[in-house]
Amino acid sequence: MFVRNCWYVAGWSDEFTIGSPQARTIIDQPIVLYRTPEGDLVAMEDRCVHRGAPLSAGRCEGSALRCLYHGLKFDRTGICVEIPGQEKIPDRARVRTFAVEDRHGWAWLWMGNAEAADTALIPAATGIDNPDWRMGRGEEVFAAEYNLLNDNLLDFSHLSYVHRNSFKADEKWATERPTVTVLDRGVRVQRWIANAPAIASARDLGGTPVDTWSSYEFLIPGILLMETTFCSLGTAEASDFGPPVGGILRENRSSQAITPISARSTRYLFCIGSRASDASPEDADATAAVARMAFLEDRAMIESQQEILDKSPGFAPMPTTADKAIVHFQRIMKRLSSVAG
Ligand code: FES
Ligand SMILES: [Fe+2]
Repeated sequence: MFVRNCWYVAGWSDEFTIGSPQARTIIDQPIVLYRTPEGDLVAMEDRCVHRGAPLSAGRCEGSALRCLYHGLKFDRTGICVEIPGQEKIPDRARVRTFAVEDRHGWAWLWMGNAEAADTALIPAATGIDNPDWRMGRGEEVFAAEYNLLNDNLLDFSHLSYVHRNSFKADEKWATERPTVTVLDRGVRVQRWIANAPAIASARDLGGTPVDTWSSYEFLIPGILLMETTFCSLGTAEASDFGPPVGGILRENRSSQAITPISARSTRYLFCIGSRASDASPEDADATAAVARMAFLEDRAMIESQQEILDKSPGFAPMPTTADKAIVHFQRIMKRLSSVAG
């Protein structure tokens, strides 16, 4: 079940350089992306209309792309503009194109009809290009279906167990239930973890007893926009258990994207960091290294979970009260995946 009418992160904007076509598979669909000499991103089906060769093995010629099998050339709108040795170009000689946008350091691809692409729906991620934040980055590919990664990010009770070595997360992450708010295209998950050691991504504060405000939105198809604010003890109560009012020791942000490649393969891209005024590039790299260690812990758990699930046809999960955000999010996914794209 894939939602087509939404923005997927196809990669980091700086992965796509002028004149260099790149292959990506997103929701089982082979796509070629390239950047024109003007710097614009172009995305089209990675399949030549002639005999199906990959256009990603082709050659950029200005803003056009030439298939390097028999030389058909396509302009940036996917229309075939040249067939070597043939004058007449059939009308149907065109490749499907996709709406694609550089935003927040990522290349976002709308997998539904390009005419329906609404840039206002691109999530407001804090990206590696944001001058106010010093972000480190990383990515992994998981041999698992993307829903398992989404479920993982919708329920942080796993921090206490899966991430006891990396984040050194306290038991309270498992015992304190967050407030879950249902949004149009996702959920908001918020909570205080009061009077517990700061998790390791708090850098030098890690292990210090603090009140931690954890607030994130998780939006379709799997975009996490998170702030984690480490505050002096007593801030949770002084803030009436709403967003912190004063007492802030350090603010972290993280933006993460789950991009399904195919049924059992998922790309996970993340950036994480602190305010630029409060962190050096080395700090950002160190924070990203802790996060990376955590996501490898997630990968080990999720890939082995996938193996078990694949051997368990008919298995039905038994939800706990920690699964509230998962249940709401799955409902939204179901509703939106029924919309044709
Ligand atoms: S397959 Fe592309 S030109 Fe023949
Ligand atoms: Fe995790």
